[in-house]
Amino acid sequence: MILPRITVRDIKAMKRRGEKIVMLTAYDYSTARILDEAGIHILLVGDSLGMVVLGYESTIPVTMDEMLPHVKAVARGAKRAHVVADMPFMSYQTGPEEALRNAARFLKEGGAQSVKLEGGQEVAEIVHRLTLAGIPVMGHLGLTPQSIHQLGGYHVRGKTKEQAAKLIADAIALEEAGAYSIVLESVPAPLARVITQRLHIPTIGIGAGPWCDGQVQVIHDILGLYPDFVPRHAKQYLRLGDLIRQAVTSYAREVAEGTFPGSEHSHSMDEETLAEVLALVGR
Ligand code: KIV
Repeated sequence: MILPRITVRDIKAMKRRGEKIVMLTAYDYSTARILDEAGIHILLVGDSLGMVVLGYESTIPVTMDEMLPHVKAVARGAKRAHVVADMPFMSYQTGPEEALRNAARFLKEGGAQSVKLEGGQEVAEIVHRLTLAGIPVMGHLGLTPQSIHQLGGYHVRGKTKEQAAKLIADAIALEEAGAYSIVLESVPAPLARVITQRLHIPTIGIGAGPWCDGQVQVIHDILGLYPDFVPRHAKQYLRLGDLIRQAVTSYAREVAEGTFPGSEHSHSMDEETLAEVLALVGR
């Protein structure tokens, strides 16, 4: 039975029913299919792809042109999951017109069902314009990696009274602007709980404790596939990097030994046909 696509209405209803929302990043067709079949509710084509797929040091260099093929691939693989496309740095901060143009590309060309962008009160007007145009928006507060040079590092946000009060005000501003959910990244758990209780829309935490309405992780982090850095908030369910290393080492050894490919992995041709071919080419 094919289940209908998960919509922003469904995601908001999950908060009302007290059901946890499960979100993971995905960047390619094959992974998207597996996550979709596993019942993951939301697939985020995060700009984290800049680091875990493209090998940049941060998410700052990521462009719309780099994001779009990945959004398309994930959208092809996800039949039921809700696909969110992450707006890269400077694809929306420059103003509502450019934000509308770029977000629309993710829906029209990419096949995503919503977009995500970072920031609070300073992007509320942009969130409002996008939602008015029929583009659902997921917010992102706390540690916002696109502002890494401004924040001065990948640290927990909201530990001081001023930061915590601003985070609450930012979350309310995003909700009032029309966002359908908000990612809270690297925020003290009790503060995330207060924000979650205050909002009508769901919060989705990453390093924000257990009381958010849902959780998101970078797929490479939980599978043990990103060698550069394992964030404190990530649990490695698998050491896929080690498994891949073992597998390709075996492959390389078998190729070197001449034991791969064996007859079961080769296509045969009878000797008679081969002889006819050789006669045909004059040998
Ligand atoms: O880009 C990304 O993967 C994200 C998640 C960490 C929420 O924004």
